[in-house]
Amino acid sequence: RRRNKKPIRVYMDGCFDMMHYGHCNALRQARALGDQLIVGVVSDDEIIANKGPPVTPLHERLIMVNAVKWVDEVIPEAPYAITEEFMKKLFDEYNIDYIIHGDDPCVLPDGTDAYAHAKKAGRYKQIKRTEGVSSTDIVGRMLLCVRERNIADTHNHSSLQRQFSNGRGQQKFEDGGVVASGTRVSHFLPTSRRIVQFSNGRSPGPDARIVYIDGAFDLFHAGHVEILRLARDRGDFLLVGIHTDQTVSATRGLHRPIMSLHERSLSVLACRYVDEVIIGAPWEVSKDMVSLIFACLFFMLFVYDVSFRLL
Ligand code: CTP
Repeated sequence: RRRNKKPIRVYMDGCFDMMHYGHCNALRQARALGDQLIVGVVSDDEIIANKGPPVTPLHERLIMVNAVKWVDEVIPEAPYAITEEFMKKLFDEYNIDYIIHGDDPCVLPDGTDAYAHAKKAGRYKQIKRTEGVSSTDIVGRMLLCVRERNIADTHNHSSLQRQFSNGRGQQKFEDGGVVASGTRVSHFLPTSRRIVQFSNGRSPGPDARIVYIDGAFDLFHAGHVEILRLARDRGDFLLVGIHTDQTVSATRGLHRPIMSLHERSLSVLACRYVDEVIIGAPWEVSKDMVSLIFACLFFMLFVYDVSFRLL
């Protein structure tokens, strides 16, 4: 219908500090409101002036935003507020049609709305903020994790081990402290719909070289992005195995992971180098598992082929 029309370019800005799947979901929704998504990543100085110092510096935040598969272009060192002058630049230089932000209020230190100009110009659109995750929440989980580790080091209870391995409730310590596993603090409800929204629905071609990489991918960061890029470079289709919370606890320590299996899976799925994930991969890469993976992937290929023919 819009074949000869200019693509709709949408702009979303943000700090994207300790990038999480809530940010990725915001970018996914923003991209769906247009044809090309341009993301403004706020400079360190602007974040310091408006909300306090970020945990991750600009260069890392840029790597993370660039790695998200729904992002087409990035504007580094964007301002925190959309001033009239910057809005003009967005319209004239970057050909932006709409400015987008989550449905949470974004107020400047002087109490005014950061998107007031865009709203007044009729160029503002809103997406739904993802419940259950925020940078503050992740920092909270990390602090709990440090506390758990310190307490575990001094107590070394076998009951502690049991408590963490069944993943429920809280642990009371002799010093009166109460800790909850970082993962248990997660309020994320892993629906199949969300996983489908993040998935590519891509399958490998018949001669594709399939690369498999596995790991915890906890607190998905710039190092993970780099290893996934290198892995994808080695073949045509990248399958990522994400270890279960139990496997991560057993191999990395009882206080890990910070992010639950499904949260970790969404962050990996949002990465542009990833084609498919196994949500809860085994620790050992056995011969049986490899044959199973191949059977699954080619079964998918078969299913898609049939559905294409039916269409
Ligand atoms: N966002 C979202 N869901 C979340 C967190 C952020 O949809 N759980 C959206 C914000 O509404 C914004 C974009 O992601 O449009 C970038 O967010 P950012 O500037 O990093 O700010 P915060 O809202 O402060 O995110 P957080 O609290 O996680 O730091």
